[in-house]
Amino acid sequence: MPAITLVGAQWGDEGKGKATDLVGNRVDYVVRYQGGNNAGHTVVIGDQKYALHLLPAGILSPDVVPVIANGVVIDPAVLFEELRGLRERGVSTERLLISANAHMIMPYHRALDKVTERFLGKGRIGTTGRGIGPTYADKISRTGIRVQDMFDPKILRQKLELALHDKNQVLTKVFNRRGVELEQVFDEYMEYAEELRPFVADTSLELNRALDAGKTVYLEGSQGTLLDIDHGTYPFVTSSSPTSGGACAGAGIGPTRIDKVVGIIKAYTTRVGSGPFPTELHDEWGDWLRQKGGEYGVTTGRNRRCGWFDAPIARYATRINGITDFFLTKLDVLSGLERIPVCVGYQANGTRYDEIPMTQTEFHHAVPVYEYLDGWNEDISHARAFEELPKTAQAYVRTLEEMAGAPMSAIGVGPGRDQTLELRSLV
Ligand code: IMP
Repeated sequence: MPAITLVGAQWGDEGKGKATDLVGNRVDYVVRYQGGNNAGHTVVIGDQKYALHLLPAGILSPDVVPVIANGVVIDPAVLFEELRGLRERGVSTERLLISANAHMIMPYHRALDKVTERFLGKGRIGTTGRGIGPTYADKISRTGIRVQDMFDPKILRQKLELALHDKNQVLTKVFNRRGVELEQVFDEYMEYAEELRPFVADTSLELNRALDAGKTVYLEGSQGTLLDIDHGTYPFVTSSSPTSGGACAGAGIGPTRIDKVVGIIKAYTTRVGSGPFPTELHDEWGDWLRQKGGEYGVTTGRNRRCGWFDAPIARYATRINGITDFFLTKLDVLSGLERIPVCVGYQANGTRYDEIPMTQTEFHHAVPVYEYLDGWNEDISHARAFEELPKTAQAYVRTLEEMAGAPMSAIGVGPGRDQTLELRSLV
């Protein structure tokens, strides 16, 4: 089996950690290919809950090589903190590989993320404030600092000088903040270099060799399709490509090596941060979903915005990513509803849309058109086979599958490792 890509099909937080953990034991490599510590994966193993922000969920499976690939942005302090936390809980971390080409989040990136958001006021993106956007901006402007630069003090100093030349102007003169001290950052990052060194590798070469040797590589996306810089609800997006195309560039693997694209999709919809969200509920049903689904951000602790399932979004995700299989998560959260609204299209400015409208303005004004599916009252968290689900829950899944345009190959009925119904093997 060659490479498999996993992508979030909505606005992130679909439960990707659980999906990765499910296949984690059956693959050889788990690779993060974009984003940074803006992500939040929760994995529950037995009575232990792990919240991962930067490390691939595969770090929890002892036979898997976890990889932070070139497309990721790394905050070294967060990386070491996360590694320390896992080691203290008995998780071995030496297998981790980090790409020499990944970019570093620097203190001025964090500072700029925060001040820019404040400056935007009502127009803010609602970023996680971790410096993700400014780090990717520097990468594209070719003024970024990469992992490999940590190992050449002369280069690191030169690049820092170049970056700080205008960053400090912006921080002090535009935003009236304190500038960043070159020597202080230099010393701090030189210290990180020694800690980083044992993990650093040519991860693209390693992954391609692994594929040549018949190993299985699992590419784990963070965030989700609608947070993609190109295909998401721009500008209310993250600054990288979580979609399956981004997996190739972000890991250094050719598209012909990817065999399956698994879309993780929640049985309803959530998003954090600003931006359009047609099925968002502003009433007590929104609170009901939030409380029942535990919809609070893993990274920022923010309340997630909640709404019903949106079929045009699911179809869009299938199309943009070439999804071959869906993993439907949190079906158990919907137990107890008499009827479940599912968005099948939108109305905007007097026009009916069956797909996501072409422009952001239209999407902002999109009012969902709902179909109502029968609900169920039973607690389904103990079901271990599709046939054990109530008939109406089975019909809900089948209808979503038809609307989304790809098979629901796995279904989550609770947070635990064993609370997954696998209809078709994902590996
Ligand atoms: P940034 O990625 O911190 O720049 O934030 C940009 C947008 O992406 C904001 O709306 C964030 O709330 C959202 N975002 C970033 N990471 C995640 C995630 O892991 N789950 C859900 N939303 C995210």
